[in-house]
Amino acid sequence: MEKFKILPTHIGIIMDGNGRWAQKRNLPRYYGHKRGIESVRRVVKAAKKYGIKYLTLYSFSTENWKRPKEEVEFLFKLMEERLKKEGEKLNKQNVRVRFIGNREQLPKKLQKIMEDVEELTKNNDGLNLTFAINYGGREEILQAIKKLKKEDLKDLNEENFKKYLYTKDLPDPDIIVRTAGEKRLSNFLLWQSSYSEFYFTKTLWPDFSEEDFLKVLADYQRRKRKFGGLT
Ligand code: FPP
Repeated sequence: MEKFKILPTHIGIIMDGNGRWAQKRNLPRYYGHKRGIESVRRVVKAAKKYGIKYLTLYSFSTENWKRPKEEVEFLFKLMEERLKKEGEKLNKQNVRVRFIGNREQLPKKLQKIMEDVEELTKNNDGLNLTFAINYGGREEILQAIKKLKKEDLKDLNEENFKKYLYTKDLPDPDIIVRTAGEKRLSNFLLWQSSYSEFYFTKTLWPDFSEEDFLKVLADYQRRKRKFGGLT
């Protein structure tokens, strides 16, 4: 097993290209999402193997509602089915599962499964696996502002604002990966990514392998993080 001197604590991934993967094969788009689940499994396994503490996967954005109703429904069904089936396995692997995003608009059944998996895995101290579902960075900041109390305003700072964010229990991502060639953040972890490194690959999400994951870790070794200071 390859050894890395510097490991990112938190990796965020924008899993893009499921639709294109399917279209290239003349298959319906939903087939790409199904195959995307296998990549989720592969990266979770790799993250555990290489000792990554936090992995956050962008699974459904607040903008994804613009897709055809059938695709949106398919995605939620797929999530329900997979989370129900794999929750137990993740628990046995000491994975702590969390969800970030606006839950209220999600199907009740999915909400319940999300709560159950969070509850089941809440005492685990291995990999922290977070799924961003109905997540949008702007929505997250707005809902945080709406929760602020008058007393909060006087001493409001970056640190105490954090407790109102969905990511209150997560460190900021050290590196954000986006697959499928696009080079944009698409409303993912806006507040949290202010000093994140970015890694873009043309690989479509269903093709993303352990080897691709290792390339991210290898690339991270070469980044000089300055956080606005000098090296
Ligand atoms: C982007 O590809 C992918 C998505 C919008 C969905 C990703 C979700 C999963 C892989 C399921 C997550 C699983 C759980 C258990 C929460 P795209 O459709 O935008 O691809 P395209 O850009 O090629 O059309």
